[in-house]
Amino acid sequence: MQKVRKAIIPAAGYGTRFLPATKAMPKEMIPIVDKPTIQFIVEEAIASGIEDILIITGKLKRPIEDHFDSNPELEENLRAKGKADLLELVEETTGLNLYFARQAYPLGLGHAVLQAKAFVGNEPFVIMLGDDIMADEVPLTKQLIDSYEKTHASNIAVMKVPHEETSSYGIIDPEAEAGDGLYNVRKFVEKPDPDDAPSDLAIIGRYLLTPEIFNILEHLEPGKGGEIQLTDAIDILNKTQRVFAKEFKGERYDVGDKFGFLKTTIQYGLKHPQVKDGLREYILELAKDLESGKVDNKMNAESHDLEEAKD
Ligand code: G1P
Repeated sequence: MQKVRKAIIPAAGYGTRFLPATKAMPKEMIPIVDKPTIQFIVEEAIASGIEDILIITGKLKRPIEDHFDSNPELEENLRAKGKADLLELVEETTGLNLYFARQAYPLGLGHAVLQAKAFVGNEPFVIMLGDDIMADEVPLTKQLIDSYEKTHASNIAVMKVPHEETSSYGIIDPEAEAGDGLYNVRKFVEKPDPDDAPSDLAIIGRYLLTPEIFNILEHLEPGKGGEIQLTDAIDILNKTQRVFAKEFKGERYDVGDKFGFLKTTIQYGLKHPQVKDGLREYILELAKDLESGKVDNKMNAESHDLEEAKD
């Protein structure tokens, strides 16, 4: 059996949910406290034993390449000032086996993945989407690789979501659980209306696929939203070879959504050695002020000032 060595991280999207911040900056570079979200994904890949990573980029995504490049001037400066801890942080992000390809037109996730055909060749591989940071004792990508080694088949990570949110995800129609959170799947459906959703088990952005997916993607017609949908290709793959769904039981942080992003920032901040104590104190104070209504009044006063300044 072939070892899973390669990962694709699609990062070509416009990031419209974070406009205006993403007008000239990749959404993948927005930091959670001090670490760009894409670095969390790259770290999950490496912790899972992935050796080569291809990031699919597009226009305005150069800062991602620069982030994972060396910066000799900065390194020299930190060295000269004896800032060993900062130097270590900067050097952590260089020397990885990272490759870049560009998606010229935003024709959908399936189309972005197709740009990786030559990179992947004839091996099983993983796809990691950047909108979710996953936390568990064993990294989710490693869980998929372990499951691949047992099943010798494609494995897609899924998680239960509230029923009304099924229209934001690829949803599976599961058969009975085969044990270990593993499901045989009747159908994969991209973003169904809640009324039509066959379950609440949603695809959460980690896929382990066999290379046969590329032949399917090459001939696939546009699906939901007029885009080439990866979910549609997986549904076709599932008709000729088994594609399992693997339920994730850890913590998922949706950083592709404003509220999810704020929650993740607080959670990560509460673990961050430099800010955790101050942040904890601040949150406790804030909770008291919110209870008494003090903060609401103050915020209203500030936004009123802003409106006045505009006039
Ligand atoms: C994509 C996929 C969808 C999946 C989701 C997970 O949608 O098309 O099947 O459930 O990622 O985040 P997007 O969020 O890019 O619209």
